Amino acid sequence: MKEYFKLSNGEEILIRHVKRADINGIWKNFNEVVKEGIFLPVLFTIDSQFEKQSWFDNIKKSNELCIVAENLNLQPPSNNIIGQCEITNIEWDAAMHVGNLGIIVNKNYRNMGIGKKLILSAIEESKKINKKKLVLSCFSNNRRALNLYENLGFKKIGIRRRQFLIDSTYYDELLMELFINEDFDDIKKL
Ligand SMILES: CC(C)(COP(=O)(O)OP(=O)(O)OC[C@H]1O[C@@H](n2cnc3c(N)ncnc32)[C@H](O)[C@@H]1OP(=O)(O)O)[C@@H](O)C(=O)NCCC(=O)NCCS
Repeated sequence: MKEYFKLSNGEEILIRHVKRADINGIWKNFNEVVKEGIFLPVLFTIDSQFEKQSWFDNIKKSNELCIVAENLNLQPPSNNIIGQCEITNIEWDAAMHVGNLGIIVNKNYRNMGIGKKLILSAIEESKKINKKKLVLSCFSNNRRALNLYENLGFKKIGIRRRQFLIDSTYYDELLMELFINEDFDDIKKL
């Protein structure tokens, strides 16, 4: 799977599966979003090379997905990854048909349609690894993320109130799900 597209500023983006050479770029991107401190329930950056490599090995070993957005105008290996969407397995044996979706896009590249492209590709690729349903969780005040998920067919299924505590502020966690062959294929017909 490879999809090329151009941003309005002319930069060329490639949507594709992750490869080992992306590891530092992926974690740089992740750590920058962690440092923003308002979007993820993660308090500490990941700095250990062992942890970064293990993440990649685990994705491959567990037949999980990571779709990246590579900016072909930026220098690899650390600066060219500007977005990533992961589909990971749920911990239960009986939930192998369910994937857990996580996504981030670099601050300088938000609202340009990259998140949408990443999720659309991740959904299509999820079908190939026999996922029937995707679930995700999001801070209930993350309007941009919620808007994107709803536009792609995800349905709100509940809220875990005051689930996260960051800098003395509580955040509600909103849970969503998407049945790939029902909700998503219906959306594609619109
Ligand atoms: C959430 C995120 C992944 C979305 O990626 P993106 O590339 O910015 O998203 P897109 O440009 O494809 O789409 C964003 C949509 O939200 C809309 N939007 C932007 N700001 C908004 C706001 N404040 N309120 C409502 N909608 C908003 C955009 O108009 C667009 O909708 P459209 O496709 O109908 O025009 C990205 O912004 C991000 O990484 N944010 C920080 C990390 C994060 O929140 N991750 C998700 C954790 S659950």
